[in-house]
Amino acid sequence: MKNKVYIFDTTLRDGEQAPGCQLNTVEKIEVAKALEALGVDVVEPGFPISSKGDFDSVVEITKAISKPVISPLARAIKGDIDCAAESLKYAKRKRIHTFISSSDIHIKYVFKSTREEILQRAIDAVKHAKRYVEDVQFSPMDAGRTENEFLAHFVEKVIEAGATVINIPDTTGYCMPWEFGEKIKYLVNNVKNIDKVTIAVHCHNDLGLATANALAGVVNGARQVEGTINGVGERAGNTALEEVIMAIKTNHGLEYDLGINTKKIYPTSRLISRLMKMPVQANKAIVGANAFAHASGIHQDGMLKNKQAFEIMQPKDVGLDETQIVLGARSGRAALKHRLEQIGFEISKEQLDALYPKFLELADNKKEVNDEDLQMLMGREGDIKQKIQIDLVEVVCGYPLKPMASVKLKIDGTEHIASMTGNGPVDASYNCVNQIINDAHLLKKIPVLKEFLIQAVTKGSDDISRVNVQLEHAKKMYYGFGSDTDIVVAAVRAYVDGLNKLV
Ligand code: KIV
Ligand code: ZN
Repeated sequence: MKNKVYIFDTTLRDGEQAPGCQLNTVEKIEVAKALEALGVDVVEPGFPISSKGDFDSVVEITKAISKPVISPLARAIKGDIDCAAESLKYAKRKRIHTFISSSDIHIKYVFKSTREEILQRAIDAVKHAKRYVEDVQFSPMDAGRTENEFLAHFVEKVIEAGATVINIPDTTGYCMPWEFGEKIKYLVNNVKNIDKVTIAVHCHNDLGLATANALAGVVNGARQVEGTINGVGERAGNTALEEVIMAIKTNHGLEYDLGINTKKIYPTSRLISRLMKMPVQANKAIVGANAFAHASGIHQDGMLKNKQAFEIMQPKDVGLDETQIVLGARSGRAALKHRLEQIGFEISKEQLDALYPKFLELADNKKEVNDEDLQMLMGREGDIKQKIQIDLVEVVCGYPLKPMASVKLKIDGTEHIASMTGNGPVDASYNCVNQIINDAHLLKKIPVLKEFLIQAVTKGSDDISRVNVQLEHAKKMYYGFGSDTDIVVAAVRAYVDGLNKLV
């Protein structure tokens, strides 16, 4: 099928490398299943040599999904490749993805080596991977900044060694779309046997050009696009797959076959945002909260006359329900379950039974329960497993009072309570938590609060707040997240979430 464009998802590898986006094995399996339902062709489930946890997650993912090809990452090092091969023992469809840099700047400064030596390592790595699997993907890292002539020579040699997929990464997000397109065209025209392999593109978004570069790659001959959902990834992230998919789908004469169920895009995006605790910016293309919101009078008027006047795709194409059910105190379990599924939650009957009374409690406090509220309620389910749990947060504050807080925490089941003042209710509550950390000898040193971010999510004063914190402890960073209708409680939740990761 010459016009099939394969979608390679690296949310669980490149995406998960982004600060604060780390997932545990159970969460990774949930994401992998959602990606399978979305219809991606290849899943990069992790970098098995990087840790035992990553290795184990890859193994579990290979047991949980069967349709996509599973392609763990390995440096061009025998031990990495052996480990990747081992992680694939239960996989139905296997590929090993190995890489080494090809740009002069990386060869000289990162590897302190020469072009010849690096090329030999690439060839040896591909041959070694071939001992385990037929399907071997090779990436010349920083290909975006590699001279085209040398890149072509490099690629030809790794094809000769047995690579079946050649991935061209713009690792630093440096290329312009026309340069990147030219690079792919150059390889198509100058590499012997390039027609026997699939060319892939892997673009980073440092200049906001990742989607444009990926598309430029495709129109010049690439047939695999690599990226992540919501564009998550290191620095400015990777190509947002939902953007490439919908760009191909929106009638530009790009007649490529994609095996994607676009109606799963929105739920998958929400699931990943929730699990990674990485909010999607409101004006993000395709999946942002405002992506289909028409605010200006002229636009609204045009929309009422003919939707296509201002809409190039329909919300339902990406799984967004136009007629969103408004949930409230009279909504039943079926409506609650339906909405949860639409925003990416799978929920068993038992979970629904446990959640429903909490939903009604919230609905009594708020007229309308929105998606953010539901995410908060679902997130709260996870609290049960944590080492430190919040039992009580009470504050007295206001003008001209001195803010004062009392916090009760359970640490491994034992209750601890503290009352402190502060320069505001959040400060007073955090002082209580710190006091408890000291009293319970939980840590030798109190973590340093490096960042504190409050977001009021939606419109009204009764809506929920989300708080993200960054804690520094023993030269490492920990990320915490909390949400609640009460801003102080959300702040304490975020702090305790960060502490739970730390302890
Ligand atoms: O950006 C990059 O170069 C990568 C490679 C490992 C493919 O992620
Ligand atoms: Zn990358």
